[in-house]
Amino acid sequence: MSLPKAELHLHIEGTLEPELAFALAARNGVALPYADTEALRKAYEFEDLQSFLNLYYELMTVLRTEQDFADLADAYLARAAAQGVRHAEIFFDPQAHGARGVGMGTVVEGLWRALGRSEETHGISTQLILCFLRDESAASALDTLRAAEPYLDRIAGIGLDSAEVGHPPAKFREVYEAAAALGLRRVAHAGEEGPPEYITEALDVLGVERVDHGLRCMEDPALVERLVRERIPLTLCPLSNVRLRAVDTLADHPLPAMLDAGLLCTVNSDDPAYFGGYAGDNFDAVRRTLGLSEDRLRELARNSFTASFLEHDEERRAR
Ligand code: HPA
Ligand code: ZN
Repeated sequence: MSLPKAELHLHIEGTLEPELAFALAARNGVALPYADTEALRKAYEFEDLQSFLNLYYELMTVLRTEQDFADLADAYLARAAAQGVRHAEIFFDPQAHGARGVGMGTVVEGLWRALGRSEETHGISTQLILCFLRDESAASALDTLRAAEPYLDRIAGIGLDSAEVGHPPAKFREVYEAAAALGLRRVAHAGEEGPPEYITEALDVLGVERVDHGLRCMEDPALVERLVRERIPLTLCPLSNVRLRAVDTLADHPLPAMLDAGLLCTVNSDDPAYFGGYAGDNFDAVRRTLGLSEDRLRELARNSFTASFLEHDEERRAR
C-alpha cells in the first residue's frame, strides 16, 4: 500500500534479489552454488535467524565494487518508492564485506552514489546506519568504527545485528560509548531471538534511542511499561518474524496487542528480498491478516516518522 511512510529497519544487503545476485555474480566472475534464480529461491526456507544469516552472508559475496553497492541501493529505493516509502534509514554490514577484502570506502561511496541523489531520483530521503556484527568481537567492532571515521559525514548512526543469542548488548559497551562521543545515533537489534533482558541492556548499557525488533518485550510487563513511558520506538518486521519463526504465523503476531499496550510500534521489512515483501507489503499483510483498522494503519505510518532520526533532528534544532 502506498500510505507515505518511513522505513527504519532495512538491511541493504537483505534487498539483494536473486536476479540482481546472478547479474552481479556474472559481472564479477563469482560462482554461486545455485543453478538459477529458481533454485536459489527454493533455498529461502528458514528454520531460524542463523539459517537465514548463512544464506545472507553467502549471497552478499557477489557485491564487490562501488557500482555493485550503487545498483543494489538504487534497486531497493525504486521498489520502496513504489510502496510509499518517503524516508529510509538503511543498515549496512561493513564487517561482512571486509571479510572478503571489500573496504569501508567501497561500501559507503558505492551506497552514496544512489543515496546521494535519492531525493531527486526516488523522492526518498535517506540516512545510513553502520551495523556491527554481534557474533564478531568487540575489538573488531572498534576497528570498524575507526575505519568509518573518514566517512562520518555520510553515516548517521550505528546498530547491532547478526546472531543475537549469546551476544548480549553489553559486549559492545565500549564501541557504543566511542560512537556516542563521535555524535552518532545509536540503535540495536534486541529481543528478536534474544531475551527481554537484552532490550533493557541495549537501553541502559548502550544508550540506544530505538530498539530493532524488540518483539520479546511482551514477555516482561514491567519492560513494556517502561518502553511506553519512555516512548522508545520499536522497529517491528512482521514478515521477517514469520519467515524466521519468531512467531508461528502472522495471525499470531503480537502487533495488535503491542499497539493496544501503547507501544510506539513501526512496521518495516528487514530483509525484503528474503522474507517475501517490502515495506508496503508488510503493511498490507498486517492489515489483511491482523485486521488492523485504517486508524491503526495511519498510526503506524505516523509512528514511522515520529521514530525516525528526522523527527529528532527537528526537535534538536528547535531546542
Ligand atoms: N536479525 C539480525 N541480524 C540481521 C537480520 C535480522 O533480522 N538481518 C540481517 N542481519
Ligand atoms: Zn534486522
